[in-house]
Amino acid sequence: MKPTGFNSEFLWGGAIACSQADGGFKEGGKGVSTQDLRYLDSKWTPEEIEEKHQNNPFSLDEFKAALQEDSTEYYPLRRGINFYNNYKEDLKLMAEMGLEIFRTSISWSRIFPNGDDESPNEEGIQFYIDLFSECKKYNMKVLATMIHYDIPVNLVVKYGGWKNREIIKFFERYVTVLYERLGEYVDFWLPFNEINAAKFSPWDGVCLIPGNEEHMDQEIFQCLHHQFLCSAKAVQIGHRMVPGKKIGAMIARFTTYPATCKPEDNMQAILDDQYSNWLYLDVMARGSYPKYINRYFEELNIKIAMDEGDLEVLQNGTVDFVSFSYYFSQVSTNIEGWEKTAGNLIIGKKNPYLEGSEWGWQIDSVGLRFTLNQVYDRYQLPIIIAENGLGAYDTLTDSGEVHDPYRIDYLRKHIKEMKEAVIDGVELLAYTMWGIIDIVSCGPLTMDKRYGTIYVDLDNGGNGSGKRFRKDSFYWYKKCIESNGEDL
Ligand code: BG6
Repeated sequence: MKPTGFNSEFLWGGAIACSQADGGFKEGGKGVSTQDLRYLDSKWTPEEIEEKHQNNPFSLDEFKAALQEDSTEYYPLRRGINFYNNYKEDLKLMAEMGLEIFRTSISWSRIFPNGDDESPNEEGIQFYIDLFSECKKYNMKVLATMIHYDIPVNLVVKYGGWKNREIIKFFERYVTVLYERLGEYVDFWLPFNEINAAKFSPWDGVCLIPGNEEHMDQEIFQCLHHQFLCSAKAVQIGHRMVPGKKIGAMIARFTTYPATCKPEDNMQAILDDQYSNWLYLDVMARGSYPKYINRYFEELNIKIAMDEGDLEVLQNGTVDFVSFSYYFSQVSTNIEGWEKTAGNLIIGKKNPYLEGSEWGWQIDSVGLRFTLNQVYDRYQLPIIIAENGLGAYDTLTDSGEVHDPYRIDYLRKHIKEMKEAVIDGVELLAYTMWGIIDIVSCGPLTMDKRYGTIYVDLDNGGNGSGKRFRKDSFYWYKKCIESNGEDL
């Protein structure tokens, strides 16, 4: 019999993150989070900001200044799209689209405002009970990320953040409360969003201030070791407290091809893949540090401090599924002067066969099938595509419409390749399209880099009615979901 594609269990979804959507800065007893400190410097154009990747605190002075700042003016993540107060209307629209799974992240600083509090903030917990109950009302499954880059800033100020092993203790407390109080509503858990971001964007990944570290590589990997332990503990505690629920790992997938068939380029592609991608999934899915990383650590003079029993924790905390964000692909080569181009979190090398988005991210739908096959071959674990989508400028017409054929084209091509991968035999559980509703973009911190099928009438400065409008892609995705991916 000819294989057809998605089975009836497959889940069509959409994703957002609390720090980019919620707003509600300091509402409901929320503490200040590390993402609340990211600022938009008014003197830079959005393009310059994207290029510089400098809208993170870069020095101790900038960090302190942002910490003391109470306004939301140059801090778009403090505003988001006000999902915190508008989630009922937003979920209703998503339900109308037929969404079967909704991914968002939980703000640690809403549950434990300072991170080290003895008991949780009940108002914060209630917010998530209400939010997830609303999802259940529409029969939507929930995929919840425990940390999407943001942690309570007090943990950084008082303890040094991820550098300090003590954070594991606070994380365990946080996770225990999540399972205990929200466990019944959440179907899939991700302890960390894109755990490999640390190397490329240290503030996002591990809350390190770049201008403040003498041996950055050492600090990054020490922090990552603590995150790996937290991931493994989240799995162990979860298997005990919420049996039957699935706990996974996630990376930003930087798919890479050799730039030419030169053996050196092929070798470079293997190395780039190991250091940027596989290391992270290998630890969380296979339960140990891979051998290839020793050489890398030696070359960079990295020595990870471990306690007795750490390796056992990693071994006993392997995940139930793997997931990734996939936006683009790049090439690997040592050829001098190879043209560069932007990508999610990184500046990659350009592939002459691919077109780029308005932000230079190279659009490669076949790369999604390639990636799914690669990841499945390596781990033989079910997969969730936790993020995929197109950031683009949209125009709202006077009659309240948004014509976005470019987004439909992007989604159609990627979903077709995803279907091919399923026919290839990949065990794919769900697709949670990124930014199902327009939110503040993570890199440039602007509104006008939009991913949504639902338009939000706000500009980069947070001005506008805030009203929601269905884009053409809204109707297209609805049709795609109704037909279980047949009507593309
Ligand atoms: C991923 C992040 O790296 O990329 C998201 O998990 C982010 O938070 C997404 O929004 C797209 O990046 P950007 O910069 O276009 O918003």
